[in-house]
Amino acid sequence: MNELLRKFPRSMESLLDILHAIQDADPQHHLSDEALQAAAEYLGAPLSEVVSTATFYTMYSRMPRGRHIIRLCESPPCQLLGGETLLDILAEDLGVAVGETAPDGAFTLETTSCLGACAEGPAMMVDDRIYGALTKEKVLSVIAEVRRSDATR
Ligand code: FES
Repeated sequence: MNELLRKFPRSMESLLDILHAIQDADPQHHLSDEALQAAAEYLGAPLSEVVSTATFYTMYSRMPRGRHIIRLCESPPCQLLGGETLLDILAEDLGVAVGETAPDGAFTLETTSCLGACAEGPAMMVDDRIYGALTKEKVLSVIAEVRRSDATR
């Protein structure tokens, strides 16, 4: 943790970047109490300020999540193109509701606002990669591919 923190200036202007880095480095893609405490100590900031920042932004999670985070765009352009139906398909295939993590820890299903891929909606993000022009078949194919790549690791 200290090695990660030392990459950033000891300034509150670094807080958002620090929280991103901590969350990205965490195997469960979340911000634990211990991590927030370490960030607050490193910055010399009140813990309450760090916690409120981590809680305010939806891009941060205080709850442990799966190895893969699936974020389906829920903004109107994507919804009009069938995004709502795709959410049901994802939920059924993964066996989870929005905001939940599969029991095997493989996937967390989330919704998000616009991913900046409106021209290719409906769109979703799986980890750091955006997939557009989604159909039922494409969604299921993407998830199957992630499962296959997990199985070969
Ligand atoms: S509205 Fe879905 S990516 Fe922009």
